[in-house]
Amino acid sequence: MTCFSFLFRRRNDSVNNQTFEVDEEFDVQNVKFYSYKELRTATEDFSPVNKIGEGGFGSVYKGRLKNGNIAAIKVLSAESRQGVREFVTEIKVISEIEHENLVKLYGCCVEDNHRILVYNYLENNSLSQTLLGSGHSNIQFNWRTRSKICIGIARGLAFLHEEVRPYIVHRDIKASNILLDKDLTPKISDFGLAKLIPANLTHVSTRVAGTIGYLAPEYAIRGQLTRKADIYGFGVLLIEIVTGRCNTNTRLPVGEQYLLERTWDLYEKRELVGLVDELLNGDFDAEEACRYLKIGLLCTQDAPKLRPSMSSVVKMLTGQKMVDERKITKPGLISDFMDLKVRSSDKTKPGQKNTSYNAFSGSDKGNSTISSGTSTSANTTFNTMNNDDRSV
Ligand SMILES: Nc1ncnc2c1ncn2[C@@H]1O[C@H](COP(=O)(O)OP(=O)(O)OP(=O)(O)O)[C@@H](O)[C@H]1O
Ligand SMILES: [Mg+2]
Repeated sequence: MTCFSFLFRRRNDSVNNQTFEVDEEFDVQNVKFYSYKELRTATEDFSPVNKIGEGGFGSVYKGRLKNGNIAAIKVLSAESRQGVREFVTEIKVISEIEHENLVKLYGCCVEDNHRILVYNYLENNSLSQTLLGSGHSNIQFNWRTRSKICIGIARGLAFLHEEVRPYIVHRDIKASNILLDKDLTPKISDFGLAKLIPANLTHVSTRVAGTIGYLAPEYAIRGQLTRKADIYGFGVLLIEIVTGRCNTNTRLPVGEQYLLERTWDLYEKRELVGLVDELLNGDFDAEEACRYLKIGLLCTQDAPKLRPSMSSVVKMLTGQKMVDERKITKPGLISDFMDLKVRSSDKTKPGQKNTSYNAFSGSDKGNSTISSGTSTSANTTFNTMNNDDRSV
């Protein structure tokens, strides 16, 4: 194993505008650095042919590294660029995390202005493109497979929340951040947003970055970020996996557009089984599927402290722990707090909806803006800035 220190120079401007340089040494043991040249060769000069996706932080390319490994190479956009020190510090944390249900980060490139992440490539794409996509996938998501995926995601998140020290809040649990390997083992991806939370802090108010529909109300509105916000996102995802439906679908009749609201309605009517994905053709364990939906409801309760920990969720999913129905209270729905205006753009591709959201919460008096780029009706990324946000 190579052990070396990374030496870099930082320019500091003093109050009287004199510029000086500070040499700092910090430990980057276990971090693999790739040269820009190697990544350029791997992706055939970042050819569009090798581009496999684009997210809020930049483009992702498939490429073959010098050692023969196939990698997903994520080129961060200019806005996502941090200073070398911050970037490498985060990379070091991520590089050291290994779990069967987390995407492995091979290393990074920090040459000049380039900030590139190199991940293990997963063959079967993301849940948003396969299970929830528009039908181009030939993967059969039978009940066993879905159950294995739910348990795997829960285990990966429980590891981040309860075993990594200090623990990690993912911040962006959603279907496009769940990748599937060749055996359909789920891997949680995208630690780009993950930040370490010091153990003595109960919550951190910071810039909200996530996807509408997966966002816990307290995070979306007040920027309160705790593990319970991830658990909310997991609950939404769990319900999506069982039902095969996106959390939001504005093409459905009013009253059915928001999956979580619909799940609560059917739970109250004791008709949850009717929500299970029709594509399963009735070939599923009804008791288990309804249990999973109830666990989804437990995770999305309005009061964060009522949501179970991820290790409890794993136990409930695997049947080691009972789901206490008396404990299920109404889900927290950000639409209850916000005046959400949905506008459809004319430039919409067939089957897609370019949606923008304006949200005004009572406490923010219109200072929170939510804006999105092109997205499916159920997959809209937005950023919210709170008034008291000092961390950006
Ligand atoms: N390790 C990987 N292996 C295979 N495909 C990947 C990998 N990482 C990303 N991708 C592909 O690239 C796409 C874009 O990923 P990216 O994380 O940049 O955006 P996103 O998850 O869709 O949105 P966001 O930026 O909000 O996270 C993914 O949906 C997936 O199809
Ligand atoms: Mg992603």
